[in-house]
Parts: sequence; C-alpha cells; structure tokens
Amino acid sequence: DKGNHKHFMAKEIHEQPEVVGHTLAHYIDMVHERVALPSEMPFDWKKLKRLSISACGTAFYAGLVAKYWFERFAKLPVEIDIASEFRYRDAPLEEGDLAIFISQSGETADTLASLRYAKEHKLHVLSVVNVPTSTIARDSDVVMPTLAGPEIGVASTKAFTCQLAVLACLAIAAGRARGELSEADEQKLVHALIEVPRLMTQALTLEPQIEKLAVELSKTRDVLYLGRGTSFPIALEGALKLKEISYIHAEGYAAGELKHGPIALIDEKMPVIVIAPHDRVFDKTVSNMQEVAARGGRIILVTDPKGSQESTIDSAHTLTLPEMASTVTPLVYAVPVQLMAYHTAAVIGTDVDQPRNLAKSVTVE
Ligand code: M6R
Repeated sequence: DKGNHKHFMAKEIHEQPEVVGHTLAHYIDMVHERVALPSEMPFDWKKLKRLSISACGTAFYAGLVAKYWFERFAKLPVEIDIASEFRYRDAPLEEGDLAIFISQSGETADTLASLRYAKEHKLHVLSVVNVPTSTIARDSDVVMPTLAGPEIGVASTKAFTCQLAVLACLAIAAGRARGELSEADEQKLVHALIEVPRLMTQALTLEPQIEKLAVELSKTRDVLYLGRGTSFPIALEGALKLKEISYIHAEGYAAGELKHGPIALIDEKMPVIVIAPHDRVFDKTVSNMQEVAARGGRIILVTDPKGSQESTIDSAHTLTLPEMASTVTPLVYAVPVQLMAYHTAAVIGTDVDQPRNLAKSVTVE
C-alpha cells in the first residue's frame, strides 16, 4: 500500500523519520543517552586489529560512511570493499578479526559469498540486515537488524538511513569498549543521533523546492555530485540513485578529486550537486565549488545556514538544511539527495519503483 504517495519510493523516503527513530530506539538507552546493543558480542572490541566491511551498491556506501566513524570513534582501522571484490582479491585476513556485511535483502549473492569467505578464514561475522530471516542473517555470528520495515522500491532509501543508524551505534559502542570515547563523548554523539528523526522531518520540507529543481535536472544529460569526508559517500549515493531511476548519467566524486579529472567535464550544461554541511572540511569544498563556478558550472549546494552564508558563490542554487552535529549529516543529507532523484525521475516519467534492468535483490554473482 502506497498510502497517499504515487510510488513506494516516495512513501519510503517519507517514512524515514519514523523508521530511523525505531531503529535508534532499538540500539539506544534513551534515558541515559548511551548505546545499548541488543545482543552480546562474541568478540572483544579491544582485541580487534582490523575491521573489514563488505557490501554492494547503496549498502556499500553505508559502509563507506561507517569507515569514517569506526576510525574516528574507535581508532579501529577499517578496510572496506565492494563484496564482489573482497571475495576475490586475496586480502590477508587475520583469524579473530571482525567482518561486517551490510545488506537490505540479506540475499545478495556477492555479499553472501564474501561472508562465507570471511567465515572460512575464521573471522567473526556480523551482519546489518533488514530481513531478519534472510540467508545472510542466518549465516552470521551476530545480526544487527535495521528496522526499516519492508522496502519495496528497487532504489534503496529507508534501508540506507537505517543502516547508517545501526552502524553509528556500533561505532560508538566500539569506541567506548576500546577506551577511545569518554562517557561524555558518547552522550554527545548519542544525543546527536536522537535528533535525527526531527532533522529528517525538517529535511522533507525542502520537497517543494526540490520539485522545481527536478524540472531543470530532468533536462540534463549528466550530473556530477561532490562531497568530502562523510559527504563523499552521500555524493556517491546521490549519483547512484539518480542513474538508477531517471537513467540520467551521474557520477559521484570526492570533491578533492575534481581537479584530477572530472573538472574537464564542466560546462554551463552540467549541474554539479555539492553536498557540503558546514563541517571541518567545508572551506576546502568551497574552493572546489569556486573552481566549478569559474568554468560556468551550475551549482546546486546542499548545506546549512552557516554554509550558505559562507559559500560566497552567487550563482549557486542553495538547499538549506538545519544546523546539526557533523556526525549525523550523512543520515539527514541523504534525504534531499533521494528526493532530487525521485522527483527528477517522476518528471521524466520512468518506472520509479521498478526501473529497467534492475532487481530488488541480486541473487546471482
Ligand atoms: O539487498 P542489498 O542491500 O544487499 O542490495 C545491495 C544493492 O543491490 C542495492 O543497494 C542496490 O544498489 C540498490 N538498487 C540501490 O538503490
């Protein structure tokens, strides 16, 4: 049932404040503002030398964000792979280390093959899945469910933000167990997470503005997405979402890579969507934007009030989100990025929920 929405994807985008709230409530002791994982870990976080994360598509991008979190909060080195690469690249794996697999369906063949490979090498296997009865869930030592509810749209939306919510909690738990986060640090991080559903609701109010932008975007051939730090995976996710459902060619890049190649593509016809909350890498992203503006590129800047004040690029179209702790920006900035893809596809009139050539779960390697 799509409720009053035209597509499941629209419904699922709008459900995010609620399902992310449910997911957070499953992993957080709301009274004390501490992480409280629902199950015991069969390993000691302190003894881990390295964490390997593997997943495909959007779930891989959730893993990319998590790498920044695990390294920052827990000082735990993270290797992240696309599952189809992890399985065949002969990575030296150490017995007793931890491998995390992220999957909405829990049936993705490449992710499952990687999981079995990690098990053969005697790694502890933890999965973040949305379908608790899935093969990946069954084959894991520990399952951390996302409580997104069934996701029908082929383009993943609410499963992604719920994956981020679970991974943030895990990274905080790891940080505490490894003695890298004080109780006060933890409370601050958890407090920021608790704000996310409210911030997502505010992000959804940008929809009318995004609908207008989508008319423009629907006429373009290529779109470039840029971001730094944890906004880099959101740029990748934005590009994937747009190409999946609108069939417009899109690429996501780390903003710093612009001058190493993609800047050659920039002209007046190419929209450049810049994901840039006012965080510690904001100034660097602004200089990348200036490089785009100097070449006549059309900038759509997704930022916050401080960012919009300091961006100093007149030609930019700005989408302004509320101010928030930088840890939670990937969860909230995902929302306008999803809406941009959705409305662009809706203007074009593609089959949003069942885009051509794609399947909801990819059960062949
Ligand atoms: O079910 P999974 O999370 O394992 O699926 C992984 C990818 O196939 C999936 O995220 C795909 O990229 C989506 N269509 C993205 O919207």
